[in-house]
Amino acid sequence: MTSNGPLRVLMLGAGSGIAQATARLYADENAVLGLAGRNAGRLAGIADDLRARGATQVETFDVDFTTAPVLPTLAAMADRLGGVDHVILAYGVLGEQALAERDPTLAQSIIDVNFGSAAVWTLAVAALLERQGRGSLVVLGSVAGDRGRRANYIYGAAKAGLSTLVEGISHRFHRTGPRAVIVKPGPTDTAMTAGMTKGGPLWGTAEAVAAVVRKAADAGGPVVYAPARWRWIMAIIRMIPAPVFNRMNF
Ligand SMILES: NC(=O)c1ccc[n+]([C@@H]2O[C@H](COP(=O)([O-])OP(=O)(O)OC[C@H]3O[C@@H](n4cnc5c(N)ncnc54)[C@H](OP(=O)(O)O)[C@@H]3O)[C@@H](O)[C@H]2O)c1
Repeated sequence: MTSNGPLRVLMLGAGSGIAQATARLYADENAVLGLAGRNAGRLAGIADDLRARGATQVETFDVDFTTAPVLPTLAAMADRLGGVDHVILAYGVLGEQALAERDPTLAQSIIDVNFGSAAVWTLAVAALLERQGRGSLVVLGSVAGDRGRRANYIYGAAKAGLSTLVEGISHRFHRTGPRAVIVKPGPTDTAMTAGMTKGGPLWGTAEAVAAVVRKAADAGGPVVYAPARWRWIMAIIRMIPAPVFNRMNF
């Protein structure tokens, strides 16, 4: 709750597994939720579930983030919610790395969704929060952005750029009202990783990442790992000398 009523939360990419788990946490707090994404039918089902779980109000917005006009679309969504307290940017695509290495159009689409579009929406939300003088922006990055590896370095490069952008916005917000945080999950069991072999200690759940996202909206940052152990795993991975790293098969 805010001092004036329920939290107003805008989820950009509300169909994502991590976004859905995060929205359920906000529904438990009786938040007002705005669900934005490009699959209107699926968002309607998610909205019904969130209402049943206790959300005060749930609005859905049919938005493709790579093509929608950013400023008017964001302003219209914020207006419909009566303002925004938290914005969670969760959309993204993993893409087919092996194909994208040889297909510039495919590579461009991975970069456009995960960096080009995400960066522009992030900047627009930052400007909105700055005008309000308050509010939190939480952006989903990835541990893949911390060191390039052969399996996913195009996606990783886009997430690295996004992380730098959010860190810069957090710096800009220092000693002002709003906050900006980049949350970097490790491998998480969602639709994004549907084709992968899962299990083992490195895999996490959408619920575990959602708990970190929810906390990050209130405190901490500007860089938060989900789960927290990934900070230390990535610190070690970044320190591996390239001649050793390049011989590793992962
Ligand atoms: N899962 C992981 O292992 C993992 C690890 C690290 C970081 N992350 C990051 O965490 C975030 C959430 O991941 P997730 O696993 O929850 O993803 P997910 O379940 O695969 O969902 C991704 C969502 O993004 C939406 N989307 C993609 N491009 C869009 C566009 N142009 N316009 C509107 N919506 C678009 C997809 O919509 P459609 O369903 O319509 O395609 C989908 O709802 C992503 O940024 C991801 O990169 C995930």
